[in-house]
Amino acid sequence: MIGRLNHVGVATPSIEASVAMYRDMLDVMSIGAPFDLPAQGVRVCFIDLPNSQIELIEPLGADSPIHGFLAKTPKGGQHHVCFEVEDIISARDALRAKGATILGTGEPRIGAHGTPILFVHPRNMGGVLVELMETPKAKTESGAH
Ligand code: CO
Repeated sequence: MIGRLNHVGVATPSIEASVAMYRDMLDVMSIGAPFDLPAQGVRVCFIDLPNSQIELIEPLGADSPIHGFLAKTPKGGQHHVCFEVEDIISARDALRAKGATILGTGEPRIGAHGTPILFVHPRNMGGVLVELMETPKAKTESGAH
């Protein structure tokens, strides 16, 4: 059911400072342009790695869900991990059947990659906030099996 690790979400008080850190400390060369997702209350920037991405998340607006996270960890830190799934509805339903809580309405919304996403409550995943992302690629790879 689970596919590739798509990205690791990292909350930061400053995308600009984090971008500079990844560039200077780890010599990362491929860094996207930051962009706002007002509906989700976040500003996002993707750092490309050979096999995955880091998703930098900065609070956007007074109601941003990231404010609470940064109140506990002011310098930022790992916020979530995102796994690709072939079919997000069947993945959601399978998790619910195992007792997991899906955050929000439980209906997928369109995430930073423009694909349907859902979040699984950290209490069901050993304290890790897990994002599920339906990807056409996961579909294609699965279809080839
Ligand atoms: Co994410």
